Amino acid sequence: MGTAPRPALDMDKLNAFIGKFVTDLGAAVHTGMVVIGEKLGLYKALATEAMSSAELAAKTQTDERYVREWLASQTAGGYVTYDEKTHKFSLSEEQAFALAQEDSPAYLPGAFELALGSLAAVPRIADSFRTGAGMGWHEHDDGVFHGCEKFFRPGYAANLVSSWIPALQEVQQKLVEGARVADVGCGKGASTLLMAKAFPKSRFFGFDYHEKSIEGARESAKREGVADRVTFEVAKAKEYPGKNYDFVAVFDCLHDMGDPIGSAAHVLQSLSKDGTWMIVEPFANDQLKDNLNPVGRVYYSFSTLLCTPCSQGQLESCGSGLLLFLDAAVYAVFTVPGGGSLPRRASR
Ligand SMILES: C[S@@+](CC[C@H](N)C(=O)[O-])C[C@H]1O[C@@H](n2cnc3c(N)ncnc32)[C@H](O)[C@@H]1O
Repeated sequence: MGTAPRPALDMDKLNAFIGKFVTDLGAAVHTGMVVIGEKLGLYKALATEAMSSAELAAKTQTDERYVREWLASQTAGGYVTYDEKTHKFSLSEEQAFALAQEDSPAYLPGAFELALGSLAAVPRIADSFRTGAGMGWHEHDDGVFHGCEKFFRPGYAANLVSSWIPALQEVQQKLVEGARVADVGCGKGASTLLMAKAFPKSRFFGFDYHEKSIEGARESAKREGVADRVTFEVAKAKEYPGKNYDFVAVFDCLHDMGDPIGSAAHVLQSLSKDGTWMIVEPFANDQLKDNLNPVGRVYYSFSTLLCTPCSQGQLESCGSGLLLFLDAAVYAVFTVPGGGSLPRRASR
């Protein structure tokens, strides 16, 4: 039996593919560069004025030789601007907005911290491909928890109080007057704390099964002066305590749960009669063919390392019956990196 001859390589297609590889390889190692830049305050220092590598090193108390190399990588990647006449480096307004302003809605370094933390799980996840075993959120590198909070918080700060909550029927009024709110799967509590600061007459309960995140959330509540109206507790989405919540929210975590339908049933029984549930989830199309774009690649890759292993690790008994939703006001918000939709009513 002869083997069929392989078709000749199309050199143009091969070169295009190699070009893509070089871009991706640079982006992969660039992840570490951004984390270093943020950790050492290099972006923030550069945002103040144009500097040589020596000036930046002096200002940030770092070693000039390392800083010079870092600056070169940043400039080649388009994250830093270089003036070849003065040999000084700076950030444009847009670079500073995304890399040096922690309160900007497009603050990006958290995403790289999240990516770097997730990649630490690669050896274990490779094993999981053979065994199907899960890996809980709590088993990841700390960078995952910090990066997640850092990356998601600016989006919540830009949208949650100013546009998502006002778009929900009657919820804003209830929160202003004093409501009971549960934030389920709250992580380090960024969304809970933003709501607590905006609605001082309401009482907030943040739940997450991850102890370390809850500890961090409690510390933030104290630091931000809202510990009197916010309680953070370790609890699973299917078991959190309390009833008669006027508003329950889940931010970017329903898809991480092994039994989202069981969690939904628990939310329903915890809501007051006219309560509202808001589900915030990353936007994706239903069909693979419609997600084959850069955002789809980001989502599927994070999902392989974080979300799928998390839910795989929780596959106990799964509930059933989405019809349960029909008796509650359910709204869905779909986010994309750097933005999101307004809440859309998903039930009667
Ligand atoms: C992607 S993080 C989102 C955290 C937070 N809501 C935010 O938006 O920053 C997913 C969170 O879901 C939590 N989680 C996963 N499964 C859970 C479950 N069954 N019950 C409660 N929390 C869960 C994880 O511990 C993690 O904090």
